Amino acid sequence: MHNEEKKCCSFLEKNEQYQKLQAKLDGCEHYQKFRVYRDKILALSNDSLEKTIAIALALCLVCAVLVSMAAVALKPLQIDNKAFDMKKNILDVAGLLKADTDISAAFAEQIEAKLVDLETGNYVDTMDVEAYDQRKAAKDPALSIEIPAKQDIASIKRKAKIAKVYLVKDGSAIKSIILPVHGYGLWSTMYGFLALNADGQTVQSINFYDQAETPGLGGEVVNPLWRALWKDKKVYSDSGEVALALIKGNVDPTKADAAYKVDGLAGASLTSAGVTNLIKYWMSNEGFAPYLAKVRTGG
Ligand SMILES: Cc1cc2nc3c(=O)[nH]c(=O)nc-3n(C[C@H](O)[C@H](O)[C@H](O)COP(=O)(O)O)c2cc1C
Repeated sequence: MHNEEKKCCSFLEKNEQYQKLQAKLDGCEHYQKFRVYRDKILALSNDSLEKTIAIALALCLVCAVLVSMAAVALKPLQIDNKAFDMKKNILDVAGLLKADTDISAAFAEQIEAKLVDLETGNYVDTMDVEAYDQRKAAKDPALSIEIPAKQDIASIKRKAKIAKVYLVKDGSAIKSIILPVHGYGLWSTMYGFLALNADGQTVQSINFYDQAETPGLGGEVVNPLWRALWKDKKVYSDSGEVALALIKGNVDPTKADAAYKVDGLAGASLTSAGVTNLIKYWMSNEGFAPYLAKVRTGG
């Protein structure tokens, strides 16, 4: 069949479909009512209030339908992008992200996600780790617990009973452990990852991937230069207390506690206090301390 013939057939088919649809609409009582109303409106003067309102409403309706269709159609893409971005953040805090890294492949090869029962510190192998969303779980009364105001130093109100951690593997050995942390700064809840060495004590890196502090002030939590200050800091003092904290000003390297302190963010004491509090909370017995104790003893 020639191209022209093909085009003609397709036109006839479409025309036939259109006619069928038209016949259906003609038989519909509501459509007939709509047509009568539409003709009445269109016959009105362009300056009439009724016509202006009717046209504006019709336009709103069409736009609303288009926006809703776009939102529904783009949802799967949004979910994929979010998952991809999370993998990128995890690789970044693990120190495995380079300009040419194939994110999905590097994540699949080197990172293992695990669920941890925060109370016992044990791994949970009975749930689907891929499908588990700790942020969603923290809002579900069945999967989370309310934090008493006195204990809620990170101002998060509720916490999921089960946390999703990531292990960076070198063969079968664990190279580092990536822990999800979050807490309130000045304007926002800051969500991030803290990467610790396999000793469960030495910081490898920190990465806040979702926060809304002021750029240039509290927003400096994402500054690579500030993030670099965290490397090799220690979390727990000899007595087992959480000693890692931000201080006002710069850390004096000659001081005995320098290994536990990080420079505070200039002009952002409140965000800095928020970071200290979230570290203190998530590294305590309310957070990952039971799990890290088991990691340290190889349990
Ligand atoms: C517009 C504006 C935005 C600010 N954003 C932040 C912020 O994101 N984090 C923060 O800790 N302080 C922020 N501050 C400053 C706080 O209000 C407060 O002055 C500051 O935390 C004190 O820090 P300093 O003791 O280091 O000076 C902001 C102030 C203004 C006026």
